[in-house]
Amino acid sequence: SHSNNDGLIDPYRKPNGLFAVNARKGSYLVSNHRRLHERNEIQKESTNIVGTMLGNILGAEEQNHDDKNRNQRTEDDVTYTNKNDIKRLRESLPVYNVRSPLLQVIRENQVCVIIGETGSGKTTQLAQYLYEEGFCMSGKQIICTQPRRVAAMSVAKRVAQEMGVELGDKVGYVIRFEDKTSRNTQIKFMTDGILLRESLLDKNLDKYSCVIIDEAHERTLNTDVLLGLFKQLLSRRMDIKIIITSATINADKFSEFFGGAPQFKIPGRTYPVELIYSKHPVSDYVEAAVSTAMQIHMSSPVNSGDILIFMTGQEDIETTASEIRSKLLEVYSKKYQITRHDEINDVEVFPIYSALPADIQSKIFINFEGKKRKIIIATNIAETSLTIDGIRYVIDTGYSKLKVYNPRIGLDSLVVTPIAVANANQRSGRAGRTAAGTAYRLYTEGTLAEDMYIQPVPEIQRTNLSNITLLLKSLEINDILKFPFLDKPPTQSFISSLYELWFIGALSNKGELTTLGKAMTKFPLQPTLAKILLLSSKNGCSEEMLTIVSMLSIPQVFYRPKERETESDKARMRFFINESDHLTLLNVYSQWKANKFSKIWCTRNFLQYKSLKRVHEIRAQLKQLMDINKIPVVSSGKDWDIIRKTICSGFSHQSAKLVGLGKYIQLRTGMEVKLHPTSSLYGLGNLPKYVVYNELLMTGNQYICCVTTVDPFWLMDYGSLLFDIKRVKEINDQYSANIFHSYGYDDSSDDKKEIDLIEKKLQK
Ligand code: CDP
Ligand code: MG
Repeated sequence: SHSNNDGLIDPYRKPNGLFAVNARKGSYLVSNHRRLHERNEIQKESTNIVGTMLGNILGAEEQNHDDKNRNQRTEDDVTYTNKNDIKRLRESLPVYNVRSPLLQVIRENQVCVIIGETGSGKTTQLAQYLYEEGFCMSGKQIICTQPRRVAAMSVAKRVAQEMGVELGDKVGYVIRFEDKTSRNTQIKFMTDGILLRESLLDKNLDKYSCVIIDEAHERTLNTDVLLGLFKQLLSRRMDIKIIITSATINADKFSEFFGGAPQFKIPGRTYPVELIYSKHPVSDYVEAAVSTAMQIHMSSPVNSGDILIFMTGQEDIETTASEIRSKLLEVYSKKYQITRHDEINDVEVFPIYSALPADIQSKIFINFEGKKRKIIIATNIAETSLTIDGIRYVIDTGYSKLKVYNPRIGLDSLVVTPIAVANANQRSGRAGRTAAGTAYRLYTEGTLAEDMYIQPVPEIQRTNLSNITLLLKSLEINDILKFPFLDKPPTQSFISSLYELWFIGALSNKGELTTLGKAMTKFPLQPTLAKILLLSSKNGCSEEMLTIVSMLSIPQVFYRPKERETESDKARMRFFINESDHLTLLNVYSQWKANKFSKIWCTRNFLQYKSLKRVHEIRAQLKQLMDINKIPVVSSGKDWDIIRKTICSGFSHQSAKLVGLGKYIQLRTGMEVKLHPTSSLYGLGNLPKYVVYNELLMTGNQYICCVTTVDPFWLMDYGSLLFDIKRVKEINDQYSANIFHSYGYDDSSDDKKEIDLIEKKLQK
């Protein structure tokens, strides 16, 4: 059973005492650590974790549908049917006033950096200006990259609307596993990751006349690598235009990187924003945000402006949204004797995060003309990527989710972390775009001054580089350390990615790409997942592996509503295959298929229909890639052992051995790990001796997620090296140098303690 009677910590249960999180300087809002710990523990947005069933997405969706019906006001009402309206709107943007000098700078320079306040019209207008100026005449396309999928979709939609064309025709977008373009497409929005993959196929990007690298200040890994590639591309493509857009921060860095590229500043107008800090550290940022929002709403007229709350991620956003909704109902029912949420008609709550479907997301742009207040709860996507007009109040929790990588143990996790001062200012600024506003900072002034970095640490310095290393290798950039990076990644991260790629057979002993490695780059997947997919074809189980890999590419399929936890847990357990979470996932999909991909069947079984539909689409695309690359898709029928064996071959470097009651140690590092309670193996009377896992999740404990039982002989075959203790120690020494280096830890004593511990264990 999944009850908690074997001494393991149940991540669904609130921890009682204070929990010491290894936070920067160790002093940051101590009381908040409890909440942090709790949240880190139960939350995971990573696309690869499966079975985190805490999401309340479906609940929110139902709510949203109710909202929609009630308003009788769909998006079409706000699309601009009147050409003059569109024209007026476009001409009211700050960028319009500088249209011609801006285009002149672009015409006269191969590279330029454009700086402008959020909302000045960079993202929506630039591509259109270039189009109007004939940059597509030669049959080439204009592209604009975005760090986020949501932004790519929503901006493409908006631009199509402004140009009066259908989305996917002249204007389109491409994100992973979704291509909404056609042969007619001339303006293309895409994620930076997609452009990176495209440069594998077409090194000179010959299809494109202009590339706008939007939101470059966000410094995502993909954008950083793209900028490095462009630096090399410039001499080969004298005719290409590279336009880098950035918020004010960091602009000089880009200019210098491109040999003094000119900067163009769009004069903007901003209004003063009053900053209100918390007097004391808040003990729970969700609670604090909810009560601040309620206070603002109850004490100011609805038409005085909308509220934007910055939260960390999906789960926090959903919790905040549902808490605000219930508080609203409480207050309104007392005041107006109403009993149902849909009777509240002067305020609406909008959660927004990347996993939310596009149609729901775009509802945040509806203009209620002061008749109704929007309370928008977003991740840092609303810092710069999305501009929502009418915000006058900002509530800033002071946190965001950040990917942090520990190269020694190969752990890449999303952690709730304090934001940097630059982010804080960007967030506050959102309140003063259309009129003077107020920003409520849920942290003290001292915290800002003493505990926050000035600038955020770029992703490249705190993430797993295996994907990028493989990509650069396939671009024949062999000496990766010499690649022109805007900021150098830690050497340690590179070494560990080289090691991982070599271990899984993507690189030869000389560090060159192997045939397998080359084949892996054909798939937009993590190297290990690409490997098991490729091997499954040889092993005769690719039909099944396609499903498993697709299932691993979405956040979660199980649905666990708050009020019906026991019931949904029971439903979930009916799908369990005792020896493997991977096979459990396969089982879910197979049964869904056997039930003719039915929606009702999903609801009945507490499965998220939308997620499964997405799996279906992803699967179809991966299958297409298999077909194109002539990799046979074959079924193993009833033989599921071969599937486990194939998974083992891809993940032998992520293996663990049972050493005690529910206790495993990671075979490479000797680190103690626990089964994640969502695993189908969790709570089994007889736990398997050896397992491989898809992901390590660092929270209070280290949990292994998505686990498959393996035979130790398979491990010997695929990962024999890991069983040589001396080698393990060597590897550890190699990785121990600077685990937290990239993350700005100046004191690695905790780290040393951990290493000592591992060494002691190894000596035993
Ligand atoms: O990129 P930048 O922050 O400079 O501005 P933008 O995203 O081009 O936004 C310009 C204007 O278009 C803003 O007033 C946005 O509110 C509006 N916009 C919108 O109404 N709907 C969208 N989907 C995107 C932008
Ligand atoms: Mg923009």
